[in-house]
Amino acid sequence: MKTYIVGNWKLNFTVGEASIYLHKLLKTIPKYRDTEVVVAPSALALQPLSLQVDRHIIKLCAQNGFYRDYGAFTGEISFSQLRGLVDYAIVGHSERRYVLHEDDKMIAKKMAAAIRNRITPILCIGEIESERAFGETKDVIRDQLIGGLSEVSDDDLSKVIIAYEPVWAISSAKSARFATPDEVAEVVKIIRETLEETYGKKAAEGVPILFGGSVNPSNAGGYLTVPGVNGLLIGGASLILNEFADIIETAKRVRA
Ligand code: PGA
Repeated sequence: MKTYIVGNWKLNFTVGEASIYLHKLLKTIPKYRDTEVVVAPSALALQPLSLQVDRHIIKLCAQNGFYRDYGAFTGEISFSQLRGLVDYAIVGHSERRYVLHEDDKMIAKKMAAAIRNRITPILCIGEIESERAFGETKDVIRDQLIGGLSEVSDDDLSKVIIAYEPVWAISSAKSARFATPDEVAEVVKIIRETLEETYGKKAAEGVPILFGGSVNPSNAGGYLTVPGVNGLLIGGASLILNEFADIIETAKRVRA
């Protein structure tokens, strides 16, 4: 399986800044056969960047999309409009769950909409600090996973990526702390087992699972060697070109 290194730029960079960053990144990294390098700029930048990017080296990702293809939905951007511009889309990021109140039902519809528009959804799941403290991590992970995939058919499971992002480890969290590789391993195992129960062992094995939460050049190697982890979803460090390039280099080295 490939290794996925995904940079989530969130609400950062103007279109011009995004274009300059992409230009530099394209010059910095050679094509790594087994590493899929992906960046998720703001929606405004996707159109110009899709004309600029070399898709053999870097793929584009949307940070969100709406579940209906067209209609009276003021302010939304549909996956049908994103079709052709991006290869991937982040769905159900914790900032959308907790700041913008998206629930599993809406997230499930978005997963289906991405797939029907030939965009690979990256489904983000993860517990908040108090849920972990109360021993609810397993239940939360299972609920978010089963809920988020409820409109994904058996045949379409191979078109999905899962990202485990413990909300308490994301750099913007009030008292963010680094997840230990053991903590990540434990939850990745729960994800894989839940997929197995629902879709069977073979199908479950083929689903890439990424980790995200304060990933940086110093800890990336540790997370990438956790059993069952197939890549990283990176926020803050992906905004700094040298750090993001370093993480890509690490991925190439540790997973060679
Ligand atoms: P972070 O963000 O790397 O800044 O913690 C990760 C994410 O929210 O996807």
